[in-house]
Amino acid sequence: MASGPETSAHYERLAGSYDENWAHSEAFLDWMSDAIAGSLDLAPGDRVADVGCGTGLFARRLLDVVGPSARVLCVDPSAGMLGQLPPVDGLVAVQASAEDLAASAADGDASRSVLVALGSLDAVVVKEAIHHVATADRSWVVAGLAGLLAPGGRLLVVMLPTTISYPLFDAALRRFEELQPDPEDIAAHMRAAGLTVTVAYQEFELRIPKDRYLTMVRSRYMSLLASFDDDELAAGIAEIDARYPGPVLVFPDRFAFVLGRRDGADGD
Ligand SMILES: C[S@@+](CC[C@H](N)C(=O)[O-])C[C@H]1O[C@@H](n2cnc3c(N)ncnc32)[C@H](O)[C@@H]1O
Repeated sequence: MASGPETSAHYERLAGSYDENWAHSEAFLDWMSDAIAGSLDLAPGDRVADVGCGTGLFARRLLDVVGPSARVLCVDPSAGMLGQLPPVDGLVAVQASAEDLAASAADGDASRSVLVALGSLDAVVVKEAIHHVATADRSWVVAGLAGLLAPGGRLLVVMLPTTISYPLFDAALRRFEELQPDPEDIAAHMRAAGLTVTVAYQEFELRIPKDRYLTMVRSRYMSLLASFDDDELAAGIAEIDARYPGPVLVFPDRFAFVLGRRDGADGD
């Protein structure tokens, strides 16, 4: 679902229950945070922005790596999601979209307030939010985010691949495949912005009690599910329930890590 009123309404609704959906899996949160910090080569003191940070599930773990001397900018257009950020010194909420951030940096328009100065960050991560930027806007948004990087800075887009093995109902899986951007296209936008790019895939095996997963689907834990009405969702949940008779769902959560690096000042 691209940016717009429906996306905003979806996240305002979901904000209060978002963390509950993942609280059962500290192991997943730790694995993903380590994967992000490792891909970005984060070190103490690095200046980081988490764009589309949501409730800060990962930002607060990244702060453990870069703090206490550095802060993490938590950028998200949803006041509801930002309202769930843990009240921790060092997490700085910025209510803005990726588009706002990229445009304020890129257009040089003095009348527009610059949210984050050009060349001022060591690392920018966008995890599971790039699909909310409209297809036609992705190239300039990626270029704008790249412009925020200091020499040697890194831009990491973490996203689902074009197909997933989630235990969802068929119509949801088909719609996912229609909507999900291709990580290779994001990589191409980064290259066009002058970054040196790699694309890697990493996966984590999720084990989720079926009842809990069905509750997550019912709460439309993926924005994709907001495009189904209540009757369609109820039918989808019955389909999942019938297809997976066991009490625990086991499936790989596979992610693309699209990493772009800006050349260092000395060209390295
Ligand atoms: C699936 S959640 C991911 C949140 C967080 N990164 C995580 O992994 O837990 C997507 C987030 O993207 C935010 N979002 C929606 N449109 C956006 C946009 N145009 N730019 C940046 N973030 C956006 C939503 O408000 C939401 O918090």
